[in-house]
Amino acid sequence: MSVRPTAAPEIEQLPEPPLRRSREIQGNILAAFNKDYMAFRYVRFPDGAGGRGWLSVMLNTVSVTAAVEDFNEEFSLSRRAYGQDPSITATWVGVSLTYEGLLQVANRPADVTADLESFTAFTQGPARRAADLGDDGTSAPQYWLFGADNSGVHAVLIVAADTATALNEKLENIAAADAAHGVTLVHQDDGRTLSGDLRGHEHFGYKDGISQPGVKDFHREDRDHPGHRENRQGTVLVEPGEFVFGHKSESGQPPAAPAWMNNGSLQVVRRLRQDVSGWNQAVVREAEKFTPRTISPDLLGACLVGRWKSGKPLAKPQNPVTGTGSDDNDFTYENDPQGEYTPCAAHIRRTHPRHFERSQRRRIMRRGIPYGPEYTIADDESDRGLMFVCYGTSLEQQFEFVQKIWSNNPDFVPGNDTAPNGIDKVTGTVTGEYPGTPDAHIVLADGSEGTVKMQRFVQTTGAVYAFTPSVSTLRKL
Ligand code: HEM
Repeated sequence: MSVRPTAAPEIEQLPEPPLRRSREIQGNILAAFNKDYMAFRYVRFPDGAGGRGWLSVMLNTVSVTAAVEDFNEEFSLSRRAYGQDPSITATWVGVSLTYEGLLQVANRPADVTADLESFTAFTQGPARRAADLGDDGTSAPQYWLFGADNSGVHAVLIVAADTATALNEKLENIAAADAAHGVTLVHQDDGRTLSGDLRGHEHFGYKDGISQPGVKDFHREDRDHPGHRENRQGTVLVEPGEFVFGHKSESGQPPAAPAWMNNGSLQVVRRLRQDVSGWNQAVVREAEKFTPRTISPDLLGACLVGRWKSGKPLAKPQNPVTGTGSDDNDFTYENDPQGEYTPCAAHIRRTHPRHFERSQRRRIMRRGIPYGPEYTIADDESDRGLMFVCYGTSLEQQFEFVQKIWSNNPDFVPGNDTAPNGIDKVTGTVTGEYPGTPDAHIVLADGSEGTVKMQRFVQTTGAVYAFTPSVSTLRKL
């Protein structure tokens, strides 16, 4: 009897999403740096030549999307297979320039000014936008550690590493480059993921970094759920031009920008100090006021965030039999128009209301990390908070819109017009423009009801808007 060789099963080769391999787009925009240690250095150039000399050194150390994404994939595969593997390490560097920094290093600054005429928020910088964004009182620029004076910071450097030793080694090299080119350090922030059970959580205790936009041409599409990221139901894929210039955006066209901005992105950095004991006390106090019976502080905190500390969403199950969805990001608020499960004041509902076609042009790629020591009752005074970082191609239509029109604005109701409402109690603050009440009115499905009166326990202590250029543009500077 002859044995017929069986043909090897054909392995379908899925095409690689083109941006996945980009060596032009800097890391952290599409592929997250995702490191336990991150330093943020805000620096100032002595003059154009010094700035250009410094940038030519940074060019050799800057990390690109393909390298970061390869690493992230290898890291998560090996973690799934063997648990944490300390031998897989990498140190990443990203460099961005403020408007003032671009003017310093440009050969023809007048051309840059003309090119950026419509980039009002970027050219004005966050200090001049502060009043509009609710950065007043103790959050006003006069108290900021950096960024208050638009001409103070020329570049933002993010250095990310797996260990403090690796980070410090890299920082030593960078400090040497600074010294060689007369570049001065305006301020440095040190980000550090929290330890133990709080790993991946922010200082109030909630898991962070769960919901991020998926990006067409970078992430694969799920075959069974068109329009969603592979294996991540609930993560809608949006056009790459929402985050990177020179690519199609949700409007159908690439964002209007000069060619030198192609494959670059706009970066927001905000140093947000968190008063953890203030938040904890307010949540206990306000939970007791609920009627007809009090609710637990844990539940009230979850209502204000939209997720439990574990990251599990409060969202009403899409399918009551199987639970919320396939994972912690697979939900919308369409089945909860009154906010009985996720109140309309909840941080995640206001910052991403998930009414699809309208929300997707407001998405931001968040890349934050906590700074400062972990909170303990004995140490509630230390300066701690979130280094909030995000990327997008329009400061006005993305970050500023989310902060101003959604978080701060009591007239915006991310549900039925009649739904109980209130501003975002995590980061929202009422600006003069919106006279409505800032209180958060919550009516839950079990009938418990309360009006939460609490101040914002997040204070802005520094801010920068910067442009993260492509590698080719960096090379040409
Ligand atoms: C999500 C906390 C600042 C926008 C979240 C989550 C937490 C959180 C716990 C849920 C986890 C997740 O889905 O990733 C905080 C804290 C902040 C802060 C403690 C300040 C100290 C901001 C700011 C903005 C913002 C300034 C933008 C103006 C968002 C967005 C989401 C989110 C867009 C994802 C919502 C979703 O897609 O469901 N934040 N956040 N956050 N936050 Fe913040």
